[in-house]
Amino acid sequence: MAAAVTGGPDPVLTRVRGDITGQHVDVVVNAANSSLLGGGGVDGAIHRAGGPEILEECRALRASRYEHGLPVGQAVATTAGRLPARWVVHTVGPVFSAREDRSELLASCYRESLRVAHELGARTVAFPAVSTGVFRWPLADAARIAVTTVRAEARPGRFAELRFVLFDEPAHQAFGAALG
Ligand code: APR
Repeated sequence: MAAAVTGGPDPVLTRVRGDITGQHVDVVVNAANSSLLGGGGVDGAIHRAGGPEILEECRALRASRYEHGLPVGQAVATTAGRLPARWVVHTVGPVFSAREDRSELLASCYRESLRVAHELGARTVAFPAVSTGVFRWPLADAARIAVTTVRAEARPGRFAELRFVLFDEPAHQAFGAALG
C-alpha cells in the first residue's frame, strides 16, 4: 500500500522591496475592493500594468458569481493580462478599525488567496501588504498577521516560494521584523 504522497519541502518565505506588478511569479495577489472595478494603490498599479483584460474578467465576475461584489476576506482569480505573472488573485482586505477586531478577516485574505492559488496549481505567489494603505491597517500588526497566516497555511510541498513585495521602506522593515 503506497503511502499517501503528502508533504514535500516547505515553501521559502521571502520579502522584497519593489513593485508587485513586475514580479515573475505564478500569482500576484491584489489588494482590491469589493467592487472589483479597480482603485488606487496596488489595485490601480495592477490594472494599469496588466491592461484591460483584467478589468474585463472582473466585470464578468460581477455579472455572475459576485453580483454584490467580492466580500471582505474572500479571494478570486483572473488573468494577469500583460503582467509577467500568470494570474491575479484579487482579495478584499478589511478597513482597519480601532473599535472592532477585524484581524480574522485580514488573515482570511491570505488564507483564501493561498487556497485559490493552490487550486490554480500556482507554485510561486507574491503578496502586497494588504490593508496597510488606504485601509489604514498598522504595518507591524498587518505584517504579523500576514506572516503568521501564510506560515500556518502553506502546506509542505504545495508552494516553492511565497513572496511579500513591499513598496516602501517602512513596510519592508515591518515584514522583515515579522519574518524574524
Ligand atoms: N506594488 C506593491 N505594493 C504596493 C504597490 C505596488 N505597485 N502600490 C502600493 N503598494 C502598497 C502600499 O504601499 C501599501 O503598503 O500596497 C499596500 C496596500 O495599500 P493599498 O494599495 O492602498 O491597499 P489597501 O490598503 O488594501 O486598500 C485597498 O485601496 O487602492 C484601493 O481599490 C483599492 O479600495 C481598495 C483599497
